Formats: sequence, C-alpha cells, structure tokens
Amino acid sequence: MQDHRARPFLESPVMSTHTWAVVTGSSSGIGRAAALKLAEDGHAIVVCGRDQDRVTQTVRQIEDSGGRAAGFTADLSSPAAVLGLAGQVRAAVGEEPIEVLVNNAGGGGFSPTEDTTAEMFDAVFNLNVKAPYLLTGAFAPAMAARGHGVIVNVGSLSSTMAASGTSAFQAAKAALNMLTRSWTAEYGPRGVRINSVDPGYILTRVNAHMRDMFGGYLQSVPAGRGGAPEEVAEAIRFLASPRASYIHGTVLTVDGGKTSVVAM
Ligand SMILES: NC(=O)c1ccc[n+]([C@@H]2O[C@H](COP(=O)([O-])OP(=O)(O)OC[C@H]3O[C@@H](n4cnc5c(N)ncnc54)[C@H](OP(=O)(O)O)[C@@H]3O)[C@@H](O)[C@H]2O)c1
Repeated sequence: MQDHRARPFLESPVMSTHTWAVVTGSSSGIGRAAALKLAEDGHAIVVCGRDQDRVTQTVRQIEDSGGRAAGFTADLSSPAAVLGLAGQVRAAVGEEPIEVLVNNAGGGGFSPTEDTTAEMFDAVFNLNVKAPYLLTGAFAPAMAARGHGVIVNVGSLSSTMAASGTSAFQAAKAALNMLTRSWTAEYGPRGVRINSVDPGYILTRVNAHMRDMFGGYLQSVPAGRGGAPEEVAEAIRFLASPRASYIHGTVLTVDGGKTSVVAM
C-alpha cells in the first residue's frame, strides 16, 4: 500500500519567530529559485518535492545563506498525500503564521489526446489543479482569519496558447489561472492576495531532455532566448511582497514577450 504521509525529515535548528512561505516544487528549478529569494526576504521556507536529496539541497542552500527551512517529501499527484503534507506542515510550523503559499509544483501531460488515459488525465489535474486547490483550502482560511496572506500560482504560457500534444496540461494550467480569479473573489475581501505567474520556456530540469525541440519557438521570442528560473522567481518574489499590495487576481506573464507578438 502506498504511503501517503508527507515526511518532515529536516528542519533547521535555529528557531526564531518568522512567517513561513510554503513553496511546492522547491527542490528544483523555478520553485527552488523562488524559495531562495523568499528566504532572502525573511521568510522561513517549507521546501517540498518528491526527491529527498534535492529537497535537502534546497534546505541546505537556504541555511547556508542564513535562512531557515523545513524539508518535506510528498507526491502531490496523490490528493491524500497533499492533505497529509498540509497537516504535517501545520504541525511543524505550530503557531507561526504561514504568510505565503506558492503553488509551483506542476508538469506532465505531454501526450496526444487519444493516447491520454483517464488515469493520465487525472494525474495531470491532480498535480496541477487539485493539489493547489487542496493546499489553498488548507492554508488560506488562516490567512483570511489573520487578515493577510499571499498565494502565487505558477501557471504557464500554455494556459492561453495551445500547442499540439499537451492538451491536458494546457487545460489544467488554464483551470489554475481561473482559480486565481475565483480565490480572489473568495479570499481577497479578507486580505489575501492571489495571483498567477505564467512562465514561457524556462531552462530547467523538466525540459532538459528536449532542448532541441525549442529552436523554432525561440526564434519567435522577442527576448531571443529561453528564461532562467531566477527570472520567474523574481516575479513570484515581487507578487509575494508588500510592493504588490494592490495587485490581486492577475496573471503576470514571464515569457520574454512570446505571447505578445505574432510570429511572421
Ligand atoms: N520550465 C518551463 O519551461 C516551464 C514553462 C511553463 C510553466 N512551467 C511550470 O513551472 C513549474 C515549475 O517547473 P520547473 O520548470 O521549475 O520544473 P522542475 O525544475 O522539474 O521542478 C519541478 C518541481 O516540482 C516538483 N514536482 C514535480 N512533480 C511533482 C509531484 N508529483 N509531487 C510533488 N512535487 C512534484 C519537483 O520535485 P522533484 O525534485 O521531486 O522532482 C520539482 O521540485 C511547474 O508548474 C511547470 O509546469 C515551467
């Protein structure tokens, strides 16, 4: 039987009063870069991913920079594991407030529609939509009760632009961006700001094996290159900060201009 419990296996020994930022998928790529920047901004970080070694690396990076972090592993394509993670995180942070939730873990769904089984479809929606949904349901009420908090959903350029062979992923990211607006209606009046960041092509582990496929794509990117995880993380950090205090329910696209121009 699968073990759905999230496992806190690492926590920095230095304890002080902090606000926490929960960053899913912070063992790699955009999430790791966002975790490091949010730690620089003074948040203690809940680091999560599936791979324990990569989670540990992020926790150590934060600690080496003088920050504080707790590491958890959970497979967020399992709703039971998501709920388990939420409970473990709440128990680990105790009375310290969770001020920021970054719903970043995502991916999958690269298969033609006729080859996508019901199970494959569910896995994509579980990870990209249901996990953010359940985590927001778990953490937003306490933010609303305190009267402040921030949620940043990491979508994709694919939420508005279609490409063949990734229909489930595209539909999932579009659903996530709709949730940004739904949650703004639901929690915004109680002081919680929710926004999305939509990355274009960013050079991370997830697409390392298919760099050759992006030559044509890159020709139509005004910036003339793929992005770095840190460039998306800066947008997440900004939206999570008080500098974005009047920005609610929007999508900040970080794609080098790709979605703004027509390829001619
Ligand atoms: N890179 C791009 O070009 C691009 C473009 C548009 C949108 N995005 C979005 O940006 C987000 C981050 O992607 P990335 O490019 O930074 O990819 P990445 O470097 O592969 O990182 C993905 C992160 O998500 C975690 N993750 C993946 N599946 C998971 C699961 N089932 N349960 C728990 N954690 C899981 C990974 O954990 P492990 O370490 O355990 O694998 C890792 O920490 C995703 O939502 C992705 O859809 C990326």
